[in-house]
Amino acid sequence: MERSTTILVVCSIVLPVLFMVSTMYRNSISDLFGTLSKAKFLTRKVQNVAELEIDDKNGLVNPVFDERTCFSRFQSNLYRKISPQKPSPYLISKLRSYEDLHKYCGPHTESYNRTLKRLDSKNITSTNCKYIVWIPANGLGNRIISIASSFLYALLTNRVLLINHGTDMDDLFCEPFPNTSWLLPKDFPLKNQFASSKLRYAHSLGSLLKSSATINNSKELKSPSFLYLNLGHGDYDLDQAFYCNQTQQALQKIPWLFLLSDQYFAPSFFLDPPFKQEASKLFPEKETVFNHLGNYLFNPSNQAWGLITRFYQAYLAKADEKIGLQIRVFNVNATPFERVMDQILSCTMQEKLLPEVDTKKESLPSPSKNPILKAILITSLYPEFYENISNMYWTRPTVNGEVIEVYQPSHEEYQHFGDNMHNMKAWAEIYLLSLSDVLVISSWSTFGYVAQGLGGAKAWILSKPGHRNPPCQRAISMEPCFHFPPRYNCSSKNKIDSGDLAPYLRHCEDRRGGIKLVKDQEELQQ
Ligand SMILES: *[C@@H]1O[C@H](CO)[C@@H](O)[C@H](O)[C@H]1NC(C)=O
Ligand SMILES: *[C@@H]1O[C@H](CO)[C@@H](O)[C@H](O)[C@H]1NC(C)=O
Ligand SMILES: *[C@@H]1O[C@H](CO)[C@@H](O)[C@H](O)[C@H]1NC(C)=O
Ligand SMILES: *[C@@H]1O[C@H](CO)[C@@H](O)[C@H](O)[C@H]1NC(C)=O
Ligand SMILES: *[C@@H]1O[C@H](CO)[C@@H](O)[C@H](O)[C@H]1NC(C)=O
Ligand SMILES: *[C@@H]1O[C@H](CO)[C@@H](O)[C@H](O)[C@H]1NC(C)=O
Ligand SMILES: *[C@@H]1O[C@H](CO)[C@@H](O)[C@H](O)[C@H]1NC(C)=O
Repeated sequence: MERSTTILVVCSIVLPVLFMVSTMYRNSISDLFGTLSKAKFLTRKVQNVAELEIDDKNGLVNPVFDERTCFSRFQSNLYRKISPQKPSPYLISKLRSYEDLHKYCGPHTESYNRTLKRLDSKNITSTNCKYIVWIPANGLGNRIISIASSFLYALLTNRVLLINHGTDMDDLFCEPFPNTSWLLPKDFPLKNQFASSKLRYAHSLGSLLKSSATINNSKELKSPSFLYLNLGHGDYDLDQAFYCNQTQQALQKIPWLFLLSDQYFAPSFFLDPPFKQEASKLFPEKETVFNHLGNYLFNPSNQAWGLITRFYQAYLAKADEKIGLQIRVFNVNATPFERVMDQILSCTMQEKLLPEVDTKKESLPSPSKNPILKAILITSLYPEFYENISNMYWTRPTVNGEVIEVYQPSHEEYQHFGDNMHNMKAWAEIYLLSLSDVLVISSWSTFGYVAQGLGGAKAWILSKPGHRNPPCQRAISMEPCFHFPPRYNCSSKNKIDSGDLAPYLRHCEDRRGGIKLVKDQEELQQ
């Protein structure tokens, strides 16, 4: 069902009216003014004639939610253009039925309690509710893309996704599912053992397959009550069998799957049976998988939303154009900052993303009273790039008279793990980047992938420092890259090239061995 409604408001008020638009679809002008009078949370100036798209993210948001528990869920489109990529009606209905399932199976429900009893029993008669317990690995960007992939896996297998986040992820996101919780309860019996190698390896898919003489016959695989899936990039060689049809048949019966991954493995479900068909039905536009799932799952909590909106209003709101520069330096000791800086400048100048400065000795101040104002938002662990760029635009005028402001919310020198406020700021930065009109991101960085995917636009990806020709390239799709895709054919066990298997899969710009979903030819012809 299409829940999005456009209302044309003609106001005779001369002064700008500040207001926000609340939750659901309202069809009459009187309803709209009812909303206006309640406007406590002022966000965007709307003048005289305004065309308002009531914000429900194209139907992704379930209208039963109370706005006050999560302002971002209803206000994000006041900061970001509504995505032209609409989710399929099938995806919307699938999300609504997933929400029902999650409410039925969620923490401490009767069904949950019953399934929990199976954890330590040999009785594996089928259960109504089956679960994926997601376990974090690596930094925030990796976690976000891995949760999104795990959620797609849950949708495809009718499982319920529970998040075992540590305290360092407390309060980053709103609860995505109505009247229930996606957080794994603190009293979950095996919670303290998720990091232990005993649980990770003795009960892993890999060791199950190894111990089973007949890997190729799913019926003879003994089904345990729980299984650990190591899908992280480090140690999942054997578990690449995870992506095979037969393994998936065997996993069907297991009530509890513990899933550890730092990867965007969503593209694997578009590769082969058994999920290819259903995944394509959910996402007829394959480039939009992360954009829709990300905007559905990851609404900033009220605290994070405060960080985002205060920064936006103070520094970015008045700019005619917002340019996001996400600069990640992976090997700091071996990479001189000047080399990175050279590369950023040659990318942004060559692609005309930033104006050149006038280097003539006597350059005149710009005569214009209302010059075009561009705001550059830099995110980096280091202050040097900010200092260089802001200095460059302060000491010299631009050749075209544009005025450039440069901002960097934070620089923390190194990536903290296990620190809630660090993650809160990182999340605010990712989100602010996603609101840019033009985005430049670093190779290999999941932080940049998330900003690009949430924003729903193709970024320019900086080449790795040292690979200077070209200094950057336009992304072929807004999807994140799956860095370590399956490399073997499940039946023949031969090596395969996953980037060659379908018209909607290509090698990533920043990692040839990786794959990403792109618009396929059929879509392009429509
Ligand atoms: C499930 O178990 C928890 C704790 O053991 C208990 O508090 C809760 O009431 C149970 N739920 C139901 C619906 O029985
Ligand atoms: C297994 O659990 C089901 C449901 O709780 C129960 O009906 C059945 O009797 C159990 N089987 C055994 C062998 O314990
Ligand atoms: C969800 O819970 C709230 C109270 O917490 C209640 O008012 C609302 O009706 C519930 N919604 C649904 C769909 O159950
Ligand atoms: C499994 O594979 C082995 C060796 O490839 C083969 O001999 C056996 O027949 C297969 N079993 C089944 C059930 O397909
Ligand atoms: C997937 O595996 C199941 C069980 O082994 C089999 O019945 C089914 O035909 C397979 N599907 C495809 C498309 O290969
Ligand atoms: C900024 O970086 C460029 C490229 O490394 C360098 O040539 C320039 O001198 C730097 N400017 C400042 C003000 O640091
Ligand atoms: C995998 O191998 C089988 C059997 O050799 C073949 O039929 C199939 O086309 C291969 N699949 C891919 C994706 O290469």
